[in-house]
Amino acid sequence: MLKTTLLKATEASGKILQQYFDGPFEVSSKSTVNDLVTEVDKKSETAIIATIRENYPDHFILSEEVGEIKTSSSTKWIIDPIDGTVNYANGIPICCVSIGVEQDGEMILGAVYNPFMNELFVAEKGKGATLNNKPIHVSTKTEVAKSCLVTGFPYKWEEGTNNPAVVFERIIKQGIPVRRLGSAAIDLCWVACGRFDGFYEHHLQAWDAAAGFLIVEEAGGKVTDYSGNRYSPYQKELLATNGLIHSALQDLVNGK
Ligand code: IPD
Repeated sequence: MLKTTLLKATEASGKILQQYFDGPFEVSSKSTVNDLVTEVDKKSETAIIATIRENYPDHFILSEEVGEIKTSSSTKWIIDPIDGTVNYANGIPICCVSIGVEQDGEMILGAVYNPFMNELFVAEKGKGATLNNKPIHVSTKTEVAKSCLVTGFPYKWEEGTNNPAVVFERIIKQGIPVRRLGSAAIDLCWVACGRFDGFYEHHLQAWDAAAGFLIVEEAGGKVTDYSGNRYSPYQKELLATNGLIHSALQDLVNGK
């Protein structure tokens, strides 16, 4: 039932993303001038919440644009109505809807759907991860030096010894390819299906990674913060790998 609702909400959102992709639609700024929200994020969010509410009027909701809709329920839906909004606003079809379901503090279900590539990633706690219904697995590369990585950068710059530019420079100076797709949820799913061997980002929000981190774990990968603690969507740092390059990438990120 939860999964059926999750898939229905994902599909409803995907249709909206496709319908409005060619524009025109309103775009406005949030925390910084380039932290964008479009009219379509809001339409997608409304459709997702309406679908959830048909079956679960009392579930807790945490969604990027409306924030928290608090209830006493132990089931929480964590929603990014468009992950990759900057891409969407620029007509770049690397964007998706991402929805995770948390129960009693544990992520139990997640779905990420990029309607432009017709790729639906789904994971269920303990039952593996799939791409368009076919089981997926992380890559088997063992050397970070031969890996293909992906990262993202914040809209609001934070200085610091290991800021995103410093880490990026450290890795690319070793000649390691690092891509920047612009959607953390897709980055995670592409680690899960073995296209990337690792992903790191300094500052994510719960909705960016709630579904994707379960998809990576269920595909056999490892997701932690930069200190190696199991990832929680309620803190900012994320390091996701195939497991085999995890400690080597963690050392690179931390400058060790
Ligand atoms: C953003 C994307 C991007 C990441 C940013 C996120 P949004 O989410 O996931 O890849 O680098 O940190 O904010 O704003 O498009 O939902």
